[in-house]
Amino acid sequence: STRVLTGITTSGTPHLGNYVGAIRPAVAASRTPGVESFYFLADLHALIKVTEPERVQRSTLEIAATWLACGLEPDKVWFYRQSEIVEIPELAWFLTCVAGKGILNRAHAYKAAVDKNRAEGEDEDAAINAGLFMYPVLMAADILVFNAHQVPVGRDQIQHIEMARDFAQRFNHLYGEHFVLPEALIEEHVATLPGLDGRKMSKSYDNTIPLFAPRETLKKLIYSIVTDSRAPGEAKDADASNVFQLYQAFASGAETERMRQAFADGIAWGEAKQALFERIDAEISPLRERYEALMAKPAEIEAILRDGAQRVRRTHGMAFMQSLRSAVGLRDLS
Ligand code: TYM
Repeated sequence: STRVLTGITTSGTPHLGNYVGAIRPAVAASRTPGVESFYFLADLHALIKVTEPERVQRSTLEIAATWLACGLEPDKVWFYRQSEIVEIPELAWFLTCVAGKGILNRAHAYKAAVDKNRAEGEDEDAAINAGLFMYPVLMAADILVFNAHQVPVGRDQIQHIEMARDFAQRFNHLYGEHFVLPEALIEEHVATLPGLDGRKMSKSYDNTIPLFAPRETLKKLIYSIVTDSRAPGEAKDADASNVFQLYQAFASGAETERMRQAFADGIAWGEAKQALFERIDAEISPLRERYEALMAKPAEIEAILRDGAQRVRRTHGMAFMQSLRSAVGLRDLS
């Protein structure tokens, strides 16, 4: 079977970008016959950025409830918290020892932090923790510990998957064929969902639309999306518009083409935003109700996560890790 795996960092409230880039395609993939799915909460990754324990816990609960509300079936897929799979940090160390430091120097998130320090005249590594530097190695361990074939992600994660392939290849070269080389699975038309200001929707830019914002908030946020100042009746460039890109991520092909025509015909921004709001709300409303019901039962979510971690370790993680220990010359603990 094909193993599909993806994770979300538990550092905040899930937003529309997470939904269209990862959650929606992953849940769809999990329903495909012959697919074995692994979906997890990247809570070890969260520690790189978040030092408030309550925030990690809150975000874990929110993201878990989001996966379940969006249709993930915990008895048909592997669903777990990264930090409960103790094999992951162990494998991360093995991979650290085959990862080229030069490759990590080029990782986007680390490089952006260095560039920012430089621009501000600081020491280039000022206030950068080693966790940020090692981020791609930990992520490679997430993927390789279950030998996933496909990883549904947004475009921002492609480089990380390429690095995981690189580390896997080096490990295989040194120790024999243990890992399959994972591939990113990108939905072309939603590869990067823009946020309110037109940049990539991201927690770090504070430009997100929370996936389960109450209806009125959702509407307000959509109406606050930045547009150009073209008047009603003036032709608008669909491909350059955030409103259009968001619409496209939620609409069918035929609806999208009609909207493209409406842009050319000079639809008013208010009208385009109203159509966008209605389209998103129609898809999200039923999920929002389930989300709210789930958030009222945190103990149930907790039980699902614990059970998921135990089962996936027993079925997949533990034995594989022991074979990797042997491969590098350490004692097999089983
Ligand atoms: P994270 O938590 O930043 O985002 C989770 C997923 O949402 C996607 N995404 C977007 N997609 C389209 N448009 C956007 N504006 C947008 N913003 C976020 C991301 O591409 C991602 O798929 N490092 C990962 C979490 C992770 C992981 C893994 C993923 C840890 N280990 C192993 C896959 C496999 C991250 O921080 O994603």
